[in-house]
Amino acid sequence: MKIFLDTANLDEIKKYAEMGIVDGVTTNPTLVAKEGANLKEYTLKICEMVDGDISAEVIATDYEGIVKEGREIAKWHKNVVVKIPFIPEGVKAIKTLSSEGIKINCTLIFSANQALLAAKAGAYIVSPFAGRIDDMGQDSMQTIAEIRQIFDNYGIECQILFASTRHPRHVVDAATMGCDICTMPAGVLEKMFKHPLTDKGLTQFLSDWEAVKDKQ
Ligand code: G3P
Repeated sequence: MKIFLDTANLDEIKKYAEMGIVDGVTTNPTLVAKEGANLKEYTLKICEMVDGDISAEVIATDYEGIVKEGREIAKWHKNVVVKIPFIPEGVKAIKTLSSEGIKINCTLIFSANQALLAAKAGAYIVSPFAGRIDDMGQDSMQTIAEIRQIFDNYGIECQILFASTRHPRHVVDAATMGCDICTMPAGVLEKMFKHPLTDKGLTQFLSDWEAVKDKQ
């Protein structure tokens, strides 16, 4: 499973990209606004740091506007994936842009039916928002399992990107359910490193070594 960072923060991306564990990056208007950033400038900087799919989202909500913005964004860099919200005008734009060879990440997916329609229109990636589904009191795992099964049943090659990841257990859920990608905030990735027995074990190793180090 590919690991993506869900952030527009360049320091966070640099830190984990240097470890070789980041396969791509997703941003959205909220994340870009949080950094007070210029979307094109930041997207290009991210492309320099990570050699993988980098999603940048359109702001338009009408067909013509989405197509215009999508074509423009796609020209920025070969690794840029155009993120389009799942709305009827967006689905129509996915059809147009994907037929031109532009890679689309269809975002704001909350049901298997939405994922099926986005994939049918030609999306390269669908992004179900697991955390927000759970927030509604629904079972995101059921939705993800349904999408996986539908795509497998019909050989649909569209990638499933587990989004709205809230904790490290979600990452395990994404991987065990066969998602192609899991995108997560840096805070969740940081927690994936942690285990108290790793810290305890290392402390013990170092203190045992301290006792004999003069004999080395
Ligand atoms: O980038 C889309 C998604 O991952 C947002 O997550 O935590 O705002 O629901 P969240």
